[in-house]
Amino acid sequence: MANELITKLNAKIEGAEQALKTARNEAEIEAVRVEILGRNGFIHSISAEMKNIPPQEKPEFGKAFNLAKNKIESLLVEAKENLKAGSAKKSEGLIDVTLPGRKWPLGTKHPISKVIDDCVAIFRRMGFIVAEGPEIETVYHNFDALNTPADHPSRDPQDTFYFGDGRLLRTQTSTVQIRYMEKNQPPVRIVSPGRCYRRDTPDATHSMNFHQIEGLYIDKNVSMADLKSTLLYFGKELMGSETQLRLRPHFFPFTEPSVECDFSCIMCGGKGCRVCKFSGWLEIAGAGMVNPNVLRNVGFNPEDWSGYAFGMGIERIAMIRYKINDIRLLYENDMRFLEQF
Ligand code: PHE
Repeated sequence: MANELITKLNAKIEGAEQALKTARNEAEIEAVRVEILGRNGFIHSISAEMKNIPPQEKPEFGKAFNLAKNKIESLLVEAKENLKAGSAKKSEGLIDVTLPGRKWPLGTKHPISKVIDDCVAIFRRMGFIVAEGPEIETVYHNFDALNTPADHPSRDPQDTFYFGDGRLLRTQTSTVQIRYMEKNQPPVRIVSPGRCYRRDTPDATHSMNFHQIEGLYIDKNVSMADLKSTLLYFGKELMGSETQLRLRPHFFPFTEPSVECDFSCIMCGGKGCRVCKFSGWLEIAGAGMVNPNVLRNVGFNPEDWSGYAFGMGIERIAMIRYKINDIRLLYENDMRFLEQF
């Protein structure tokens, strides 16, 4: 009777041992524990059979019973420990050191910043330094000091953002000419890149804020030839050594004479294409010899000093250079666009 039960007992424990060896998680271990040690488990049911065992066989069975119970308890502890160690080992194997590293997304310069940096670098090589001025300006610096007549259309509130207290958002970087000459004595060689504002209706080629780069050169006996050679050198550096320059008469209140500067089209080399509207030329800058009135306004004597000034649109250069057909793309901060530069 006892032998029979002992065999049954050992078989059960052996089965449990196998089950624990292959247990893959805590739930499977717990299932074994419940089956053997649980309230209605195997140990419980077998101890209920104890009363049927003849008294002389009881000690032998009792010993086997206790051994089995101890064994299953230590097997359970062991199984849990193995599981822990095993999962640590498994995740160790999961680290694949041959995988490529994670990429840091690398930022790029905005095309407007790129063009500004390139232009500034070219003028620096010619001895210009960078001067900057405020974007919120006085009417005086934006118009009066620049010899702009009171009835000049650019002063119209339709075109200029006024604050109503004598201040405005500058419409051109020419303001920096005045600010610099107010504080510095000639000779002057500055370029000033910066943001400007005009009350334009936004479309593919107009934006209410845009960038210009201004140049101002004041010295003794400066002539139109100096202006022309400086701009030609700039054009060749920026767009290639084949670049040609063309000056057309124009009018600006702060320069006399005034010109508009065209460079030969970078796309077709002057033959005519869609970018230059089949003219072979791209209008890039306004320029001229600084008007004596402007020099007087800052206290320079036009008998002693002369100079030239120029101003150009950064967006226009960026759009030509990078073949961007809508100025608004430059301000939308769409990553898919910006990533291309
Ligand atoms: N300020 C002029 C403009 O915005 C450009 C310019 C600058 C022209 C300097 C002549 C001299 O159109």
